[in-house]
Amino acid sequence: MEITEESSCVYKNPDAPVEARVNDLLSRMTLPEKIGQMTQIERTVASPQIVTDSFIGSVQSGAGSWPFEDANSSDWADMIDGFQRSALASRLGIPIIYGTDAVHGNNNVYGATIFPHNIGLGATRDADLVRRIGATTALEVRASGVHWRFAPCVAVLGDPRWGRCYESYGEASNIVCEMSSLISGLQGEPPKEHPYGYPFLAGRNNVVACAKHFVGDGGTDKGLSEGNTIASYEDLEKIHVAPYLNCIAQGVCTVMVSFSSWNGSRLHSDYFLLTQVLKQKLGFKGFLVSDWDGLETISEPQGSNYRDCVKLGINAGIDMVMVPFKYQQFIEDLTDLVESGEVLMARVDDAVERILRVKFDAGLFEYPLADRSLLPSVGCKEHRELGREAVRKSLVLLKNGKNSDKPFMPLDRMAERILVVGSHANDLGNQCGGWTKTKSGQSGRITIGTTLLEAIKAAVGDKTEVIYEKTPSKETLASGQGFSYAIVAVGEPPYAEMKGDNSELTIPFNGNDIVTAVAERIPTLVILFSGRPLVLEPPVVEKTEALVAAWFPGTEGRGIADVIFGDYEFVGKLPVSWFKHVEQLPLNADAKLYDPLFPLGFGLTSSSGLTSPV
Ligand code: GLC
Repeated sequence: MEITEESSCVYKNPDAPVEARVNDLLSRMTLPEKIGQMTQIERTVASPQIVTDSFIGSVQSGAGSWPFEDANSSDWADMIDGFQRSALASRLGIPIIYGTDAVHGNNNVYGATIFPHNIGLGATRDADLVRRIGATTALEVRASGVHWRFAPCVAVLGDPRWGRCYESYGEASNIVCEMSSLISGLQGEPPKEHPYGYPFLAGRNNVVACAKHFVGDGGTDKGLSEGNTIASYEDLEKIHVAPYLNCIAQGVCTVMVSFSSWNGSRLHSDYFLLTQVLKQKLGFKGFLVSDWDGLETISEPQGSNYRDCVKLGINAGIDMVMVPFKYQQFIEDLTDLVESGEVLMARVDDAVERILRVKFDAGLFEYPLADRSLLPSVGCKEHRELGREAVRKSLVLLKNGKNSDKPFMPLDRMAERILVVGSHANDLGNQCGGWTKTKSGQSGRITIGTTLLEAIKAAVGDKTEVIYEKTPSKETLASGQGFSYAIVAVGEPPYAEMKGDNSELTIPFNGNDIVTAVAERIPTLVILFSGRPLVLEPPVVEKTEALVAAWFPGTEGRGIADVIFGDYEFVGKLPVSWFKHVEQLPLNADAKLYDPLFPLGFGLTSSSGLTSPV
């Protein structure tokens, strides 16, 4: 057989073993090419020339960083393929891996199916459902040209004052471990013979997952975002490290480092946790990516300047740096650190080896461009039905009738006249919550979907009159006698990260007052849309007939109507303890003094009592 350049390049041979391809390619790379692979930049600074000339390994969209507002999946694929072609034009033709925060569906992209946020999925206790959501979202993500999802967040929730509460599957480590099944959906399930700890990706319809944020992000003191987790190593391992065992066993390709600290040590520079625990003890063979500009978190007190932060972060075990803007500085500093011997070439080779391993596993060398045949799957009926199923199973019935022997649910869909009120009754953006269209999310008709009001109207009888008022008027309340019942939809507006840090946790927009005003006059069901438990004033609990926690359900509001009108039973169970007042926080089920309003695992059915124990 004639030996051509192609056939002598093991790394270009798709039939060669991944490790042989990795070693062959690594042996051909210069230092600039290696450091380029370790560099992730945001799309707004990533011109095609920069991607080619700086050998950039990854480009990302920060939340909401679309090609243009309301861009659809095809527009995204055009953008990403543009970057990819410039990467393939580099000397060795190493493809980029494009990443984005698709954390509850492909949520940056207009028209994508938006699923319930993790706190609602935790309420389902249904690992197979979450796996199916992963597989479905993978199709919509790949349709847009994106290769890598910065999900799942496997934070174990310590305190609902944390602004990222809804990104967690719950306060019990075992629930989070089970819900990490999202990874098998996203990446595909590794065969039994797949070597433990090595990244796995089944094929073109799958997407690289990212378990985040390693480690202890959900356990910070007082729930402060990017705060400090105070715990013995034994507790850290038992509670917060545990989900990563499940992730690694599923072949998770990447792990993201937490902004937070452990007993005062910044995770981004913690060699013990990043290298000795994650890579050596747990055997993780994928790659570790920093969080957004995460090296800066090292700056105090250890690193006095960015070069110090680069040295500390890379030597601690970070393989790829989400810079995301000042990439020239990063490349210059790391190059200088390697040439001065402060960062060993062996560390750089370990990082690049891991990155290349994931890229080969993900098939990026064979299929670098978007698969446009997947475009019809985006937001299709089948996907939205899955979203609807997830919404149904996420709802938790907290109260059902003022007298337990007279259940209020399910509602009579043939009632003569019903009142629907509240900030969340007819607002898709409020229904989806943060990390939707933009990082913080937005109220209003932000994408395609069904609001609660639209779902109610579709579900009730033709003769049923539905009166909607976002804020109930005095006249309506005065004539309250004319309504069979009222549905009051209130809750939190969209938010993300530290913008959601909150020590009051009352229902915004005078939610408690609105509920009380309506419930005093009309038999009332309250549906609470929130990323976490909120303070329920006694009148809310006493005066209402029924109370449902809906979390942030996403675009498929029909799932709520399915259950409140009785087509499906309530099955949801609290994934988090529901406190009585914030002075109790943190309040977890293993506390010695545990006195919640509703305990972890609580959930009623409309026909009888509790769904089942935790
Ligand atoms: C954010 C978050 C992380 C996200 C990343 C990229 O700050 O901490 O969860 O994946 O930046 O947007």
